[in-house]
Amino acid sequence: ATNRTFTMIKPDGVEDGHTGAILDKITASGFRIVALKKTQMTVADAQAFYEVHSERPFYGELVEFMSRGPIVAAVLEKENAVADFRTLIGATNPADAAEGTIRKMFAKSMGENAVHGSDSDENAAIESAFHFSGREMF
Ligand code: CMP
Repeated sequence: ATNRTFTMIKPDGVEDGHTGAILDKITASGFRIVALKKTQMTVADAQAFYEVHSERPFYGELVEFMSRGPIVAAVLEKENAVADFRTLIGATNPADAAEGTIRKMFAKSMGENAVHGSDSDENAAIESAFHFSGREMF
């Protein structure tokens, strides 16, 4: 079925000038852009967004990284969007990411891995609502 996922081009991807190339790869792969904006998360925003990881050893580093500069947030629509987008971005660690995936092409490390992709339909809806109001989705 057609469904939606949520993505962010993370601060490393934006800083390195990869925004256009990443969006091009996403649309060329058949995803329709439902919502799109450049924004910056505050420390409090990043803490809340990554609440599920709050007990992990990398949480502090993750929050600092995700709030250090602008991101590009988007809601994407496609047949089987959540799973297909995770295939498109590749493994969390770019060293393990398949050839041709966004993380293989643009990510630097496990922490600074260029893009986010929701891991379930439920989280896609929660994460989309975190960044976008209903009036910003088309
Ligand atoms: P993502 O899967 O989008 O969301 C959780 C993020 O935590 C993950 O991307 C990485 O950016 C980060 N992360 C996961 N594991 C580690 C780790 N071992 N060290 C640092 N950051 C990590």
